[in-house]
Amino acid sequence: MRGIILAGGTATRLLPLTATTSKQLLPIYDRQMIFYPLNVLVKAGIKDILIIISPEHSGHFLNLLGSIFDKNDIRLEFKVQKAPRGLADAFIVGENFIGHDNVTMILGDNIFEDDFSEDIKRFKSGGKIFAVKVSDPERLGVVQFDENMKAVKIVEKPKEWLSDYAIPGLYIYDNQVIKAAKLVAPSARGEIEIVDINNWYLAKGELEVGMVKGKWLDAGTFDSLLEAGVFVKESKLYEKFDPIINQAIMEFNEELKILARKKL
Ligand code: DAU
Repeated sequence: MRGIILAGGTATRLLPLTATTSKQLLPIYDRQMIFYPLNVLVKAGIKDILIIISPEHSGHFLNLLGSIFDKNDIRLEFKVQKAPRGLADAFIVGENFIGHDNVTMILGDNIFEDDFSEDIKRFKSGGKIFAVKVSDPERLGVVQFDENMKAVKIVEKPKEWLSDYAIPGLYIYDNQVIKAAKLVAPSARGEIEIVDINNWYLAKGELEVGMVKGKWLDAGTFDSLLEAGVFVKESKLYEKFDPIINQAIMEFNEELKILARKKL
């Protein structure tokens, strides 16, 4: 299993914060946003992780993450997505990185309380996505279930109410996803949408939908950014991080302090 974090995009909803750095490098309490999706992948034992970034802030990602896992068996790769072509583009940009493996893709601005290790480790084939009850399904990807809670329809940002179950940004796919992504035509907003990949697997009867149990946030607005920080502080989510990540952050901080002292 390989991991991809999609951490590009323009994040105009967070201007002026995103005029100076990438959204996924903004702080959520005591650490940058990118560490939260990274933690989901590392906790699940994924060792090879591709971080897809936008050209403008690529140096910032390298400064933070370029050598942070030097002592661990975790290999981070970076790839620049020249323009935000859509979520499904992750599998085209990441084609060589994925090779013949399965892949878990997570959005760089999604904060999950749950641990998905079992879902990721047990995954065999097809696709697995998740559902979470929300009060604003119209701004998200949405899944409709039948009376047996079997997924029947998936729509991106439905104009008419369909269901209160949104699809958060964590997607587990087998290697067919590369082929599926290449079949996707751009939507009305000019993006190749993840909804088309999910519907491709659904039509083949190969899509499983799990439930999110804990808190989920997409930290793409001022309010959700603040809510995420408060949630992390109050729930002490940072204590539940994989020790590899907490250790790496601590060592990185120590190094910076030593360098700062030397400059005095
Ligand atoms: O957060 C969950 C939602 O994310 C899902 O429910 C939707 O189905 C899915 O389409 C997506 O919706 P958003 O409107 O929130 O997507 P957004 O354009 O904000 O992109 C999500 C993240 O991916 C964001 O951190 C920027 C990054 N991104 C986005 C695009 C389109 C890229 O790195 N490259 C891209 O081409």
